[in-house]
Amino acid sequence: METEAAGQRAYLVLAVLLLLPGPWLSTGVPGAPPLFNVSLDAAPEQRWLPVLQHYDLDFLRASVAEVIGNRVPQWVLEIIGDVVPKVESFLPHPFTDEIRGMCNFLNLSLAEGILVNLAYEASAFCTSIVAQDSQGHIYHGRNLDYAFGNVLRKLTVDVQFLKNGQIAFTGTTFVGYVGLWTGQSPRKFTISGDERDKGRWWENAIAAIALGHSPISWLIRKTLSDSENFEAAVNCLAKTPLIADVYYIIGGTAPREGVVITRNRGGPADIWPLDPLNGAWFRVETNYDHWKPVPTRDDRRTPAIKALNATGQAHISMETLFQVLSVFPVYNNYTIYTTVMSAAQPDKYLTRIRNSS
Ligand SMILES: *[C@@H]1O[C@H](CO)[C@@H](O)[C@H](O)[C@H]1NC(C)=O
Ligand SMILES: *[C@@H]1O[C@H](CO)[C@@H](O)[C@H](O)[C@H]1NC(C)=O
Ligand SMILES: *[C@@H]1O[C@H](CO)[C@@H](O)[C@H](O)[C@H]1NC(C)=O
Ligand SMILES: *[C@@H]1O[C@H](CO)[C@@H](O)[C@H](O)[C@H]1NC(C)=O
Repeated sequence: METEAAGQRAYLVLAVLLLLPGPWLSTGVPGAPPLFNVSLDAAPEQRWLPVLQHYDLDFLRASVAEVIGNRVPQWVLEIIGDVVPKVESFLPHPFTDEIRGMCNFLNLSLAEGILVNLAYEASAFCTSIVAQDSQGHIYHGRNLDYAFGNVLRKLTVDVQFLKNGQIAFTGTTFVGYVGLWTGQSPRKFTISGDERDKGRWWENAIAAIALGHSPISWLIRKTLSDSENFEAAVNCLAKTPLIADVYYIIGGTAPREGVVITRNRGGPADIWPLDPLNGAWFRVETNYDHWKPVPTRDDRRTPAIKALNATGQAHISMETLFQVLSVFPVYNNYTIYTTVMSAAQPDKYLTRIRNSS
């Protein structure tokens, strides 16, 4: 009963906040999310607190309550509440400590913090594209489509992760969410993840965590942090056991360095590289296995391919890739943000929040 009352209270706060005029953080460029530095040299419990300080803490608490309340059935919540103290030690570092630090700051339980971080593992409908132009340059773009847009558009941030004061890697995420669905290791590789829906992810997720499997977005961040080059990144993303299925899309810096990995929890189901010598200068992945026909009720694949065909290999660039990601229904009412990136030109990493007006 207590949690229900708290949930209702949080919902009221949220409802009030949503009536307030839009983003309270201004970056100057329309649609550009705030950019923060997060120092990996600081203790995990401390490193996100300077970011949280830019936000209304009641709004953050209410957002957590809304996402959890909508995504996870009550009975699962209760079980997970009991289980979290037991699985905590199995969760990969430094993620749990980062979540704990934010939960303490926000006065949320660790179980809520971990749940909201796992909740995004499901129900994201996305489009990712990796492409090679006629000169051999690699471009990578993605749309992230998700429910709760009213909340998540206000929480979308670009983050530069610093090691020894230098940018080690960059990613796009939601405040409070320690994993990355989109990111770049400068002059090495770029990664995006698209959901591969098997439904009822939470039924096996907790068991998988206890077996030492990684959440999908935590592996993206770990790969950005640790992998030395494109090949090492592909190897890590293909083989590391996960708590759910996913598509990983990876772009490199040299010709032909672009691939879509279709993942089962235990390992790769399929590896689909660029093959520009045979005309395959791009790969499009939405949320369906590429070797199967796409369902007509949700065909974002064919419109993306048409737009890429119309653009042509000679004219693909950061700008034209962004345009492809703006074609309906590749771009749709659920699109929260679009990112375009090219590991060889790390300063051009660009995210725009969509549907924001
Ligand atoms: C934190 O939560 C506890 C228990 O729910 C409550 O007693 C306390 O007042 C809260 N503190 C703040 C600062 O919200
Ligand atoms: C982030 O850190 C980099 C590297 O130290 C620095 O050049 C930049 O000014 C910092 N940016 C922000 C927004 O603090
Ligand atoms: C895109 O172009 C290729 C090569 O010309 C062609 O085989 C394919 O049918 C085209 N796809 C669409 C959706 O236009
Ligand atoms: C998308 O949003 C627009 C504007 O609110 C609305 O007119 C349109 O019907 C929506 N489209 C879909 C497919 O929901």
